[in-house]
Amino acid sequence: MKNKRILLGITGGIAAYKITSLIRLLIKSGAEVKCILTPASCDFISPLTVATLSKNPVGIEFWNKEDGSWNNHVEYGLWADLFVVAPLTTNTLSKMANGACDNLLLATYFSMKCQTIVAPAMDLDMYAHPSTKRNLATLKQDGVKIIPVEKGELASGLVGEGRMAEPDTIFQSIADFFQSENDLEGQTILITAGPTYESIDPVRFIGNHSSGKMGYAIAENCLNRGANVILVSGPTKLTLSHPNLKLIAIQSAEQMFSEVQKEWKNSTVGIFSAAVADYRPEVVADQKIKKKDDSLTLTLIKNPDILSWAGANKTDKQVLVGFALETTNAIENGKDKLSRKNLDLIVVNTLEDEGAGFGHDTNKISIIDNHNKITRFELMTKSQTAIEIVDYLKKYIK
Ligand code: CTP
Repeated sequence: MKNKRILLGITGGIAAYKITSLIRLLIKSGAEVKCILTPASCDFISPLTVATLSKNPVGIEFWNKEDGSWNNHVEYGLWADLFVVAPLTTNTLSKMANGACDNLLLATYFSMKCQTIVAPAMDLDMYAHPSTKRNLATLKQDGVKIIPVEKGELASGLVGEGRMAEPDTIFQSIADFFQSENDLEGQTILITAGPTYESIDPVRFIGNHSSGKMGYAIAENCLNRGANVILVSGPTKLTLSHPNLKLIAIQSAEQMFSEVQKEWKNSTVGIFSAAVADYRPEVVADQKIKKKDDSLTLTLIKNPDILSWAGANKTDKQVLVGFALETTNAIENGKDKLSRKNLDLIVVNTLEDEGAGFGHDTNKISIIDNHNKITRFELMTKSQTAIEIVDYLKKYIK
């Protein structure tokens, strides 16, 4: 963890006393550590202890009363490679989940650019409360990683679920996070994203509502994990830039097909999330079509199936992932596409699920593999869905 910058948020629970061991483990492993304490946590752990062990001044309030200097939450957000909140109390959990921002730690959380990991700690009844479950689910949906609580004796004397994970376990989660950062190094990942536009005349086209958000989120995650990414993208408002990204902007299915034909043989993984138009007008008018008659008939012809082509031209060393957006019989249709198009995995979502599909920032997916194993996921943000998809497909990379 040499030179990794870890920002540690400490909130006011009895488990705060264990954080000294975590700070020592992090410092020993070469990490740089800065800590933010909530005012309540100072009753459980001394700021001086934390500052001494972390070798850095601690942040508690927005400004330091002694010299009037400002603790800038935005700067903390820019500085950190990882934000860890441990212990996470019921109170701070609720504020993080609901957007309350009444101290330095919370303002920093809402300014954070990097991943946040939390280690909840509370008494068993508080942990079992429906609102705690709801708030944890919201945090997960927002892309926060949650280190599960442990079972055992609690500060109240009761025995049950709610203890904060031990410092060793938290340290391991942090180490795993940094290890997964470059787990796709050496891979070249071809991704298709967004809609295609099929021209009718110079000003009109047939398109669809795809925003490209899912494909771009996958591309971003692959880039963060060290892969080279070739993103063949239909028209979208989204932008992405990275030294390891080759972004190829296209309009029509035929253009997408021609780019994929060039790039597929040099790729180790293909993730085809584009909403490709199945048909295009047979004839594209040279001039704008004038309205003359009461009706207009367009003859449409079939576009090439780009994913099927990649499946038919796949080597044993390549992994191919398709998408299926279904309105009915999602799993059965997904299985059928998986085998018909010679895929390794298919990501299925259905417009029947609220919050899934085109335009939303969230998605609800199932992944089917080529042994017909089905894994179902809860509703998540598209960024979190992208992480789950990439984590899943990693096991299939040869
Ligand atoms: N796809 C593609 N080229 C096409 C059509 C689809 O690459 N011409 C890819 C999509 O990117 C997606 C998957 O194939 O990964 C979707 O499968 P498809 O059978 O085309 O879905 P639908 O168009 O919904 O098909 P159907 O009408 O058979 O349900």
